[in-house]
Order: sequence, then structure tokens, then C-alpha cells
Amino acid sequence: MFETLNRLSEDAILGVMAKYRADPSPLKIDLGVGVYRDAEGHTPVLECVRTAERRIVAAQVTKAYVAPAGREEFNTAVVELVLGREHPAVRGRRVIAVQTPGGCGALRVGAELLRAAAPDTSIHVSDPTWANHLPLLGGAGLRLHRYPYYDAATHRLGFDAMIERLERAPAGDVVLLHGCCHNPTGADLDAAQWRVIAELLSRRGLVPYLDLAYQGFGVDLDGDAEGVRLIADRVPECLIATSFSKNLGLYRERVGALLAVGTSEARVATIRSHVLQIARSIYSMPPDHGAAIAVEIFTDPALRQTWIAELAAMRERVQAMRRLLAGSLRRHSGGGDYDHFERQRGMFSLLGASPAVVERLRDEFHVYMTADGRMNLAGLTPASIEPLAQAILRATR
Ligand code: LMR
Repeated sequence: MFETLNRLSEDAILGVMAKYRADPSPLKIDLGVGVYRDAEGHTPVLECVRTAERRIVAAQVTKAYVAPAGREEFNTAVVELVLGREHPAVRGRRVIAVQTPGGCGALRVGAELLRAAAPDTSIHVSDPTWANHLPLLGGAGLRLHRYPYYDAATHRLGFDAMIERLERAPAGDVVLLHGCCHNPTGADLDAAQWRVIAELLSRRGLVPYLDLAYQGFGVDLDGDAEGVRLIADRVPECLIATSFSKNLGLYRERVGALLAVGTSEARVATIRSHVLQIARSIYSMPPDHGAAIAVEIFTDPALRQTWIAELAAMRERVQAMRRLLAGSLRRHSGGGDYDHFERQRGMFSLLGASPAVVERLRDEFHVYMTADGRMNLAGLTPASIEPLAQAILRATR
């Protein structure tokens, strides 16, 4: 039977991770997969996570199943974290959350939900977008369309082109938006642009699907959720996929959630019943360990403070790396314009180089990034800034 299958090429992001691991060079620099690294190049277990984990292991009395919805105390805490306690959808009991295996699990379950509700659903994603959005959403049978998002010449959001395209999307179509720290460009909507988008979505009857995978990596936990909160207030229905891979560093534990905002308490209860059936039919129940850690951190005031401080330290370190890289490139290039590396938010920015240059950076300079030139700046250390800047300038000349 399996002779019908052709071998597939490597995943655009995970393939880079594998190539980096296989490179024996002590000089190698990993700007590939989106994980945070500290100044020594390690992806640490946060202190708040270590403490929570110790408590959980000490108190745990069973490994029995939880439920397809995961932990209810986790789901409640996630709604507060994403929307805030006073959000109209929260006060009106018009939002549900279901724990999922990471943000990927949330995105896929949400896509399956959209397809269950309307089999011909079209979804518009930004151009460019995170490589895995395409299989996660398209694999559920949604029809994928692109809207322009980034102007590579100015290294800024191409907002007018984005609006122009979305104005032409038919009512009922879904629009995927990155809540903050756009992956792969780092170019985010500002507050005024979020207002324009919210008005457009509501007037045109488009359904927002918000991907919030980097909450806390741009401004802070509340600041990074502002766009999501605004949209969830202005439209009757939306979906939100969130992830705790990055902001709690729980990558391999697979902790995320799908939130659905609807028109009434009864409507979101119906939505929830479908979400649970979809979850049951794919993975049955989400893994528990990471969500148990998250609950401990979200609900214990002291641990939560530790988390907020650790998250701020991660964010500030990435911002510092952005500044250092821009400065080094400016210096070595004799004053080139690299302001966008400082201006953009979150882990990623695009180098703006061809796949051939990206290959050259890898083969000659041991610098790893995805073929589209996406650089994970959280992978930089003070020691790798200068070699990277020199490599970029030599490879792009
Ligand atoms: C990334 O964008 O590199 C991360 O979100 C990891 C992944 O799964 O692609």
C-alpha cells in the first residue's frame, strides 16, 4: 500500500533544526526554530516552572485521564490572561476555552471547527505567514488565500495593500491575524491599525481567527493582547489560538488553548460540544503536565510575579540582541539602514535575502535560518552578534 507514497521534503523549520544539530562546527549560529535562548545559548527551564513542577510532582496522586477539555482551572485562567477579567465577552459569558496540545493543536482544532460549521470555508492568511499555518489550516480542508502583509522594500507592514485585499473578501470568510510578534516578519499592527481592522471585519462580516503564540514577547502580557481584546469586543464571533510554548518555555510539554467567542452563552456551549468532539477524534485528550504547571503559575500570586519578571527578562534580552545586531550591521556596512531589526517585535525578522544567500550563510558561515531568510533573533548571544553581522555583510555583497 505505501508504495504509492513519495518521499516528502523536510519541514521548512524543523529541517533547519536537524541541519543545525548535524553541523559539528563550534562556530555555528542557530537562528532557525523559534525557541528562546539565554546569553549562553541555552533554552532554560524557567524558575517559576521548576518550582511549580516540584510542587506538582510532590502532590500528584494519579495519572488517570483528565478530559478532552483538559483542566478547567487552566481554561478559566487562560481566558483571563488572553481577554482580561473585565472583557465584555467574559462578563457576558460568551467565551469558552479548551486546553489543547500546544498552539498547533489549537489551530488545527479551530480549523476543524470552522470546517464543521461551514464546509466551504475560505481562510485568508498573511503573506508571509508562519510556515506551519498552511498545513494546519489547509490540512483541515479550509481553502487558503493570501493577503499582502509585509513590504520587503521598506521592512514595514504593507497596511494599505492588506486593507485593500480584505475589503474584497466575501462575508463569512475567515481572516487569520497574528495577535503580536508576527511570525516571520516581526512587523505588528499598531493600535490605530487594529481599530481599522476591527471595523473592517465587523462591517464586512468576516470572522477573525487570532493566533496569539508570543503573548509577553512584544510589549508585555496585557499590551500584546490589546489587538485580540479589541477584535473580540467588536465582532460577534471569533476564534483565538494561544500557546504557552514561548512565554512559559513549555515547548515540549505542548500547552495551548483554543478560545471561541460567540453571540450567546448557549451558542458557545454548542461550539464547545463540537470542539470536544473534534479533540476526542484527533488526540482524545491533551497532555496534562504542562497545563498543571501553567495553572500553578497563573494562580499563585508569588509564582506569577516570578513568571512576569522572567518573561520580561527574556523579552528584554531579545530586544537587546536586536539593538546590538542593528548597531553592528550599521557600523560594519558604513551606515546601512537596519532600523527595522530594532523596531520589529518578538523573536523574528526577515533578513531580506534570497534562498541562495541563506544557503551560503549556512554552508560558508555556519549560520542557520529558514529558506525565506527568517532569523530567530532570540537565538543570538552577545558573542555571536559580530560574527553574524560580518557573515551577513559578506554573504549579501
Ligand atoms: C517556529 O516558528 O519556529 C516555532 O513556532 C516552532 C515551530 O513549530 O515551527
